Amino acid sequence: MKKTFYITTPIYYPSGKFHIGSAYTTCLCDTIKRYKEMQGYDAYFLTGTDEHGMKIEQAARDNNLKPLEHVDRIANLAKDLWKQLAITNDDFIRTTEPRHEKVVATIFDRLIASDDIYLGEYSGNYCVQCEAYFTPTQLLEGNLCPDCGRETKIVKEETYFLRLSKYQDRLLEFIESNPDFIFPETRRNEVVQFIKSGLVDLSVSRTSFDWGIKVNSDPKHVIYVWIDALSNYISALGYLSEDDSLYRKYWVNGDEVIHVVGKDILRFHAVYWPIVLMALGVPVKFRLFVHGWYMMKEGKMSKSKGNVVYPEPLVENYGLDAFRYFIVKELPYGNDGLFTPEDYVNRINTDLVNDLGNLVSRSVTMVNKYFHGEVSKTPHQDALGVYETELENIAQEVAMNYQELMDDFKVSAALFEISRLVGRINKLVDETSPWDLAKHEAKKDVLASVLYHLLEGLRIATILYRPILIESAPKIFAMLGVEEDLRTLESIGFGNKANYSVVKIAEHVFPRLDAEKEIATIKAWMNPIKSEPEIVVKPEIGIDVFNQVETKVGLVVSAEAHKNAKKLLILQINTGDRIRQVVSGIAEFYEPGSLIGRKLLVITNLQPVKLRGELSEGMILCGETAKHELFVIEANDKLLPGDVVR
Ligand code: MSP
Repeated sequence: MKKTFYITTPIYYPSGKFHIGSAYTTCLCDTIKRYKEMQGYDAYFLTGTDEHGMKIEQAARDNNLKPLEHVDRIANLAKDLWKQLAITNDDFIRTTEPRHEKVVATIFDRLIASDDIYLGEYSGNYCVQCEAYFTPTQLLEGNLCPDCGRETKIVKEETYFLRLSKYQDRLLEFIESNPDFIFPETRRNEVVQFIKSGLVDLSVSRTSFDWGIKVNSDPKHVIYVWIDALSNYISALGYLSEDDSLYRKYWVNGDEVIHVVGKDILRFHAVYWPIVLMALGVPVKFRLFVHGWYMMKEGKMSKSKGNVVYPEPLVENYGLDAFRYFIVKELPYGNDGLFTPEDYVNRINTDLVNDLGNLVSRSVTMVNKYFHGEVSKTPHQDALGVYETELENIAQEVAMNYQELMDDFKVSAALFEISRLVGRINKLVDETSPWDLAKHEAKKDVLASVLYHLLEGLRIATILYRPILIESAPKIFAMLGVEEDLRTLESIGFGNKANYSVVKIAEHVFPRLDAEKEIATIKAWMNPIKSEPEIVVKPEIGIDVFNQVETKVGLVVSAEAHKNAKKLLILQINTGDRIRQVVSGIAEFYEPGSLIGRKLLVITNLQPVKLRGELSEGMILCGETAKHELFVIEANDKLLPGDVVR
């Protein structure tokens, strides 16, 4: 029976279009899966979308859609993109599917029943973007989120807790006795340090919003999005469902399970997930492969910096294989890497157009020109034979190293090994000058042997490229006339194909890119010309909803800058009933003194909040220009503080 291999990407947040960073994880997993299949594994590949939580609710609102309409749209975008990238996922799970929701709710019930989850109260700084609470020591100055740098909010709620503390020692023991549970090692060390610093029970339910899976026994609680999301890895296999055959095959009785994740979501996978599994009594079968991030010159990719790169135009203009090749090769194992348009274009031109594509067409042309398209293994005694032997040895060495590296998931390094082989084949052309050999009838055997070595070297390189060059590997095999059974890892040994009969005319598999022009084109995609400001049409509301908002005229009696926040002003405003304090984000646009004595419009029935430590009991109305400048809205002279605005 075949050994099994189960590989997963994180399920993606459908907050918007997917950029090359998201595509990286998926292409990496797909490459590994295809490699494992070449090795003879029964491989199963899962990806999907993580569709609940405040962040998604917010993204839907920004797009004026209902959450489900929003996630439907983006899940389809993901499916289309993975198809375009020739991703061979066996399943695509969406966390809004009943097959998933049911399982998550049951998991929660079970953990309450086993007292691994209990009800308590939580108050802390919460980051909406990261959907996580942070302790005061974790926060950056100004109560900013340590992960994304955004402002956190103080949230107080009744919440269920998962007993992480109970499992601290067991988890540490598990990591110690399974040294390759988390790799690379640096990530493992990070996790061990984190656990040793002390695990605090984790808040795993929310009452502050609605868009999520409800706790069966207490439906005002929505299950924390990470407990929901992580469970996808087993819910998709049918865990706790009527048909759990995939779960038994690939998880319980499976040979290898790999979760591939970016460094930003290490803690969730390395701490919370194994603890959930331990509490459920499910075996911790997985290993965690943690990769770095694609960065841009300016730092992280972000729309506001205008430096986001999307996969679609790269694939449509420069080809699928070029994209997959670059994206997987350029990020070194476990570390961050830089994406630049220059590297993209130059790597394609160097590796694929010059080194590989040209070599294929030159070799085919020479075999046609000198031997009517056919060459075989040809022994000879010429001194040039040393170069051929060297190539044979390197081919063998590369094939071995490649497999070792791929087995360790060092995919980028494995691709560099293939480049070494392709480089060595090209070198043989330089060393032997076939066009000179062709001038001497006596050297015919040597020429045949050299050309045979080029083809056999190319066959081996192309086998190794199979998981990545989806369209061009079969084309190269076809041009060289390589039979199916000689396109496999088992057939990789040099000399296994004894005779070649190549096509008459070689196709250029990788068209050359005009570097200057294409670099400029990619840069233009990254910095799109700013379009007209988007007109946002909000859904209609009834007058009753409008009437719920209390707006009054307020006179500014004093104003000062907020000590801990550059953008905020603290205003004391007379709203007729009393003087109230309002904190407003207009410091960039107004000197505090210039506001004193002005009559503004103030929303007076908003729930009070603390903004960077200062109480705000209302909001002043401003108009915002297309350039995001803010101007306060002033009341007519005749209106007095406390007059109602309606
Ligand atoms: N929804 C969670 C995962 C839940 S898994 C149970 C999530 N989604 S995400 O869409 O924000 O990120 C998905 C993956 O994309 C993560 O592994 C993340 O590290 C990866 N990447 C996002 N930006 C990236 C780069 N710029 N470069 C490489 N990978 C990056 O987290």
